[in-house]
Amino acid sequence: MMKMVKNSVWSMLAASAAVLAVSCATAQPATIKDGAYTAEQAESGKAIYERRCGACHNADFYRTAFSNRNNQALEVMFEEILVTMPADMPGSLMDSEYESVLAHILSLVGYPAGDQELSYASGTMGSILIVPPGQ
Ligand code: HEC
Repeated sequence: MMKMVKNSVWSMLAASAAVLAVSCATAQPATIKDGAYTAEQAESGKAIYERRCGACHNADFYRTAFSNRNNQALEVMFEEILVTMPADMPGSLMDSEYESVLAHILSLVGYPAGDQELSYASGTMGSILIVPPGQ
């Protein structure tokens, strides 16, 4: 009898652990509207952005870019930036700088911040989809 009670306590614990695991998994943003970067990260990208990107692009430029890239993985755009930008000195930033610059761009266009940093190395950008702003 005692054994059965113990077993059901264990299965309840196991079930709640599974629920926890699932809710952690869904904390991963599905699109750039779900908080794909942190506010601190965007703030730290501001100065680099203004110095290295701001002269050639403005917020409207990115609005158009995000609209054109509807449903594309954010990683694709990140890798393009990584390899081709700044156009006058491609590849000249560190990965972490490109990450904070992209975070700044997302905040510039009005996508909400979240509690998870944008990270290239983690691979999560591959499953975060671009959706057009204001929809
Ligand atoms: C010297 C000018 C210049 C600088 C500096 C520059 N870019 Fe660009 N960028 C361009 C040009 C030119 C293109 C390609 C033509 C276009 O799409 O207008 C481009 C394209 C892009 C695109 C693709 C847009 C699309 O349609 O999807 C992104 C994103 C981008 N730049 C981001 C950046 C970021 C981030 C930085 C700073 C790290 C930066 N650029 C710095 C000139 C520049």
